[in-house]
Amino acid sequence: MRIRKYRDEDAAAIARLHRGTVLHVNKNDYSKRAIRAWLKRTTAANIRASAAKRNRFVAIQQEKVVGVAGITDNEIRGMYVHKDHQREGIGSKLLKRIEQEAQKNSVKTLHVKSSPYAVPFYKKHSYKKLKTCTEPRFGLTCFKMQKRLK
Ligand SMILES: CC(C)(COP(=O)(O)OP(=O)(O)OC[C@H]1O[C@@H](n2cnc3c(N)ncnc32)[C@H](O)[C@@H]1OP(=O)(O)O)[C@@H](O)C(=O)NCCC(=O)NCCS
Repeated sequence: MRIRKYRDEDAAAIARLHRGTVLHVNKNDYSKRAIRAWLKRTTAANIRASAAKRNRFVAIQQEKVVGVAGITDNEIRGMYVHKDHQREGIGSKLLKRIEQEAQKNSVKTLHVKSSPYAVPFYKKHSYKKLKTCTEPRFGLTCFKMQKRLK
């Protein structure tokens, strides 16, 4: 598995991955209505449109996108691993790449609004849980977490 920079031709695969992961992995943490509203926005066109403001990376395995993560300023955005490849170390590799990118840009503290599901993952990587939050567009519960980079 390798990590490389996002390309626009990845957008359709990322949209499929996102939908599959939310429907299978995150489904117990949110209402059906919130998930429906959220996934309506998950299109290849929207992923391409947000590329300019997000430094995004993909994990590639056998020429398929199996993970995605991005960073905007000092915040981790859109970290998703394919539903069929959970707990294979892909998220950790993406996170390491994001942290390297942050350090390159002199970010001192990296922030994330974690999904409820991902809290143990970020904790494992030394992120501290600060407080609960609500994602404004769809009312999804999240947890503000942060890590001071060395
Ligand atoms: C959170 C997520 C990105 C983690 O990716 P991953 O590739 O499965 O994570 P890794 O395999 O690198 O996990 C590394 C370690 O984190 C911890 N961890 C990861 N997921 C965990 C879970 N569900 N419960 C408890 N610990 C977990 C474990 O210590 C794990 O090591 P181990 O498997 O040897 O025990 C992935 O589960 C995911 O896509 N979740 C759904 C989408 C989501 O909520 N994204 C976050 C948005 S902020």
